[in-house]
Amino acid sequence: MNKDIARVLVDRYTIQARVFNMAQEIAACYHDSDDVVMVPLLTGSIIFVADLVRHLPMRMRIDVMAVSSYPGTATTSQGAKVMYPAEFHVSGKHVLVVDDILDSGKTLALVTDLLKKSGALSVKTCVLLRKKIATTQSMTADFIGFDIPDEFVVGYGLDYNHYYRNLPDIAVLNPCVFEKK
Ligand code: IMP
Ligand code: MG
Repeated sequence: MNKDIARVLVDRYTIQARVFNMAQEIAACYHDSDDVVMVPLLTGSIIFVADLVRHLPMRMRIDVMAVSSYPGTATTSQGAKVMYPAEFHVSGKHVLVVDDILDSGKTLALVTDLLKKSGALSVKTCVLLRKKIATTQSMTADFIGFDIPDEFVVGYGLDYNHYYRNLPDIAVLNPCVFEKK
């Protein structure tokens, strides 16, 4: 796997420190709530959310959602679509959507809209990474870990063609990996 990595963009220690700080920001925001619903978007957010929730003291549910936007070897958004679940039970709840990365913003816009229409009391969003291009777009997130350049990244849950999610750092792949597809 290491031969496929061109360079590390955010190392594991920097990630851990920032995730801890983000949890403090989130805990402060929800200090009055004892029934929060975390909605991690599969599969990219699994490692991030696992680290994040262990620093959060409030009572919560964790209801995963599957959204497809970058199928297979695609490295640009193909349009977001919810694959799971069929119904959302968030009526009257404070919801925090957790994703790995904000790129075009289509994923978070779709999910936020659906959860609001399903009766959520509030919907906030949290991403580990925001691509620079996203800052010029209308969709942003309430909690953001790192701003990164507009490059395709893998690791800490993020994949390319389903691989590299287990890399502990956030990294950029060698161009030859994309050529091989
Ligand atoms: P958006 O809908 O364009 O904001 O895309 C967000 C989704 O695309 C994220 O949930 C990721 O799964 C995926 N994605 C966007 N950029 C990258 C990347 O650089 N590496 C891996 N996945 C990415
Ligand atoms: Mg995703």
